Amino acid sequence: MNPASLASPKIDLERLLARIATLAEVGAIEGGGVCRLALTDADRDGRDLVVRWMRELGLAVSIDAIGNVIGVRAGIEDGPPVMTGSHIDTVRTGGRYDGNLGVLAGLEVVAALNHASVVTRRPLAVAFFTNEEGARFAPDMMGSLVYVGGLGLDDALVTVGIDGTTVGENLARIGYAGVAPISAPTVHAFVELHVEQGPLLEHEGVAIGAVTGVQGIHWTEFTVEGVSNHAGTTPMALRHDAGYVASEIARYARQVARKLGGGQLATVGHVTFEPNLVNVIPNRVVFTLDLRNTDADVLAEAVQRVFAHADAVAAEEGVRLSRRSLADFAPVSFDERIVARVESLARAQGHSVRRMPSGAGHDAQMLARLCPTGMVFVPSVAGLSHNVAEFTRDADIRTGANLLLALLCELANN
Ligand code: GLV
Ligand code: MN
Ligand code: MN
Repeated sequence: MNPASLASPKIDLERLLARIATLAEVGAIEGGGVCRLALTDADRDGRDLVVRWMRELGLAVSIDAIGNVIGVRAGIEDGPPVMTGSHIDTVRTGGRYDGNLGVLAGLEVVAALNHASVVTRRPLAVAFFTNEEGARFAPDMMGSLVYVGGLGLDDALVTVGIDGTTVGENLARIGYAGVAPISAPTVHAFVELHVEQGPLLEHEGVAIGAVTGVQGIHWTEFTVEGVSNHAGTTPMALRHDAGYVASEIARYARQVARKLGGGQLATVGHVTFEPNLVNVIPNRVVFTLDLRNTDADVLAEAVQRVFAHADAVAAEEGVRLSRRSLADFAPVSFDERIVARVESLARAQGHSVRRMPSGAGHDAQMLARLCPTGMVFVPSVAGLSHNVAEFTRDADIRTGANLLLALLCELANN
């Protein structure tokens, strides 16, 4: 493998599975899932555990001001590391693999190299980035976005979450407002192993996804303000019903996605009604809209159509409508050389592989602004994710981790 190697490093599947299971006990919820929303106490406990493992593996751990944690394993030479990693925060009803697999497989690669006394030419780094999910604080991929300079630290720290508290105060509260500088980091290459979170690989019986890029993501928060009134006495023509307007926008977003086709997606995932009572016309509704597409032009068209319809319906009903952008990320293409290496290494290791874009957002899409970047997908059973029943078979985890090991060694040695 390289002049400093004594034996071929090997992934120890049992050790990796044990770490996945142990981390999943932190914030465990019914059904086998995990709730570790970013910067909560559960997130801190998960972080503490992973940092402990990093130190036990001999990594030099640094924590930056947005709470990204990076563990570095020295190479024969100094210089920019080859980095892998992902996130360990989850949505409120998360599975145990989303993000966690990428971080813990990175640690398993380090453990395998340590065990075989292999030192790579370049340093290797394993990272977990803050608030990838964006479920508590928008935007998603916040830590990696700050890391690559796409969002100012100060702007990130004042972000208010769904419970009214800020990123900055929660980082300080859990003890992860670190001191490592985040200006202009240099990374030789970045590779993230992740579960597919969709049905394609399983459906086609393919073992590995060579991820070509990530689709565009557009999140908006709408606030509709009407007038509360009696449900039994207010004629339909005299209503200013915020609930109706919100529902109509949601219905229309889905219709637009179906009509545009070509992979356009639309999701209304969060809604609050006020006063939320059976016999009162709602006076205030706040809801989110998540629009995605691999085609930036079609995505822009979907956004434009939904916004125009929303304005028209609000005017017709006589309610006030306001919008707040929560996230706006263009589609990202990964480095062709890394995509091709994922394909050829998968084949060399005896596995089927297909190219595919990612439907979910990932830290890798931010790292792609910084250095040659790629991703490796392994199948998700029934395509389930952001669901406590998220599951990836042990054999697929082994396949993905072995590929990650080979790819990282190649990138770190050549
Ligand atoms: C992150 O998981 C996202 O794609 O929303
Ligand atoms: Mn993820
Ligand atoms: Mn996720």
